Amino acid sequence: MSSIPSTVNAVERYAESRRLYEEARDVLAGGNSRLTVYYKPHPVYVDHGEGAYLFDVDGNRYLDIINNYTSLIHGHAHPDVEAAAIAALRGGTAFAAPTNAEITLAKLLCERLPAVDQLRFVNSGTEAVMMAVKAARAFTGKPDIAKFEGAYHGAYDYVEVSLASSPENWGDPDAPAATAYAAGVPQSVLNEVVVLPFNRIDETRALLRQNQDRLAAVVVDVMPSRVGLVPASPEFVAALQEECRKLGILLISDEVISFRVGYHGAQGAYGFEPDLTTLAKIIGGGFPVGAIGGRREVMAVFDAAEQSPRVPHGGTFNANPVTMAAGLKAMELLTPDVFDRLNRQGEQLRQSLSDVIRLSEAEWQVTGAGSLFRLIPTRAPLSDYRSAHLNREQSARAAALHWELMNRGVFIGSSGFGCLSTPMADGEIEAVVKAVEETFHAGDL
Ligand SMILES: Cc1ncc(COP(=O)(O)O)c(C=O)c1O
Repeated sequence: MSSIPSTVNAVERYAESRRLYEEARDVLAGGNSRLTVYYKPHPVYVDHGEGAYLFDVDGNRYLDIINNYTSLIHGHAHPDVEAAAIAALRGGTAFAAPTNAEITLAKLLCERLPAVDQLRFVNSGTEAVMMAVKAARAFTGKPDIAKFEGAYHGAYDYVEVSLASSPENWGDPDAPAATAYAAGVPQSVLNEVVVLPFNRIDETRALLRQNQDRLAAVVVDVMPSRVGLVPASPEFVAALQEECRKLGILLISDEVISFRVGYHGAQGAYGFEPDLTTLAKIIGGGFPVGAIGGRREVMAVFDAAEQSPRVPHGGTFNANPVTMAAGLKAMELLTPDVFDRLNRQGEQLRQSLSDVIRLSEAEWQVTGAGSLFRLIPTRAPLSDYRSAHLNREQSARAAALHWELMNRGVFIGSSGFGCLSTPMADGEIEAVVKAVEETFHAGDL
């Protein structure tokens, strides 16, 4: 258990989690079903959640500041969301038929998102991105896509390209190499993806122009969590949209996480109009969900009414009524005032953490926007994947910070990624700041 750093009785504190992990390794490959919940020496197993808090199987209580990787914007078991889900559950969980519930949630989302006329539901952000890419190919008649170096868009082969490039293989900074993430990815996949440098207008324009005849779409997350959670500059987003329009390349805004930055999503905050938008996480009220939305003309590729659809699209649990009911309630609770409060708290947290870092002279910084933040073990200015890439020593410090905060009852993402939820009050924000402050004072992080 040597990689769980100090504080009191770390081994005993996580004894039941360790036992469950050992049991799990027998029947679950790697001991779990999801890479993002794995960290060394073993994950903490959760028993249950209540509002802003989690309780693990050893009885430890945590303030949850990862909220199932940003998806639980109302924390755990919000009474109104729970009641909506239970009411839906009583009427049956899924049918071989559409229901009214999906129309209601679609209307709400279309009203809020300036660039979304229509949408379709799926069960994850991965599927949403995959269907958006397929829609763009069908609409433009072009085969390839472009994406930004290091950006995460789920587990579809094409968007995983160059997700984890390293100095050994990332190549030219102006024209990043297309590298494989998973072993066994065919070279043909790498050949069909153009990798762009984030936040760099001239280089991005040049690569799009060189490849315009083969590019169906550019996929962009304007606040990529794995690219240091450094927001794109507004000039960059405007230039990207302008260049895509000029070249006949569709712009896909991946707002799976960044939709939570405001009432009108990231597209509202930046004032841009992507052709397609992908959503997931918060729109499902804590249940599995995803959605692809966009311009009516582009979304017509899914239409089966007049001809066989250009992009046939199914999914046994798509738009199931329980997800739709919980998602609708969660979204209704997110009024403009609620977003304002959450984002103000986010700003306050980032500011207080920056102050703590400065006063403790720690080699860290805090990034993020809205209710999102990330603690990064460097003071160097960050703008793209390469500047935010951690070396071995920095990765070790990030892993140590994670355990130091877990030991102090703060449940944060293992890369220092976190987010707020609506049940949090000022006291919870102060608790995060205090735990980070104690950590920096206690050790040589
Ligand atoms: C920007 C972005 N796109 C897509 C995905 C994939 O979503 P899901 O995990 O629901 O498949 C994620 C997941 O974190 C994400 O952050």
